[in-house]
Amino acid sequence: MLIVANWKAYVEDLARAKKLLAVSKRLARQSQATIVLAPPAPLLGALALNNRSNVAFAAQDISVTTGGAQTGEITAGAFEAVGAAYALIGHSERRARGDTAVSVAEKISHALAQGLRPILCVGEPERDAEGRYLSFIREELTSALSAVAPRERAEIIVAYEPLWAIGKSADAAASANDLGEMTLYIRKVLAELLPGRPSPEASARRGKSSRESLVLYGGSVEPDNIRDLAASSGLDGFLIGHASVDPRLFAASVKQLA
Ligand code: PGA
Repeated sequence: MLIVANWKAYVEDLARAKKLLAVSKRLARQSQATIVLAPPAPLLGALALNNRSNVAFAAQDISVTTGGAQTGEITAGAFEAVGAAYALIGHSERRARGDTAVSVAEKISHALAQGLRPILCVGEPERDAEGRYLSFIREELTSALSAVAPRERAEIIVAYEPLWAIGKSADAAASANDLGEMTLYIRKVLAELLPGRPSPEASARRGKSSRESLVLYGGSVEPDNIRDLAASSGLDGFLIGHASVDPRLFAASVKQLA
């Protein structure tokens, strides 16, 4: 399982960041999980530079530019230079601050060009009885992956993060059942968008192909629900927000997967 810890802007001091890194290294040693930390950019620089541990790092966002006279921008290249291996792209909190379908697609291209694995966040604002949320997810995937070449398909990680489930507590998260259906739906859309990828049916028959994109879930993942969500839905991992910056909750969540 891939566990991505989205620290958002919760962590602002280096001592706390170092403590969370130490906890994460221990968890990575003790469990089967792959742990990726997404700290605020300056803290990522401080922790990831010369990092030789079993924990990897993700940018929380990258610039839509590739460099030059762009004051305040942090490019994919700059993140790669200090040791990031992944980049969250299109998180709803970034979309709320101006990310668009076009900028998300550009950022995916920049990440891939710099060797960062994009973690593309998609999620509907609400669930309607008519199922319009499904076309919303299809549209977000289609526009974001418009410039991705089929040979890059194994790099793409999709994090399904319904907006209505973010930042609450375990009982507000997606249900295991709904999540199982959505995971399958995302795999189906990815199979259409990235030709040559095995179909969901074929992968189910053969076991998971290493060429298949990973699908994660995020939104109020806590120790109380992570095991059920993991067991039911065919997910490859989780994107954890508030519970990832509390060492006790984070450790308890990861241990539930052991
Ligand atoms: P949450 O955040 O776990 O606090 O709901 C998840 C996310 O927004 O990535």
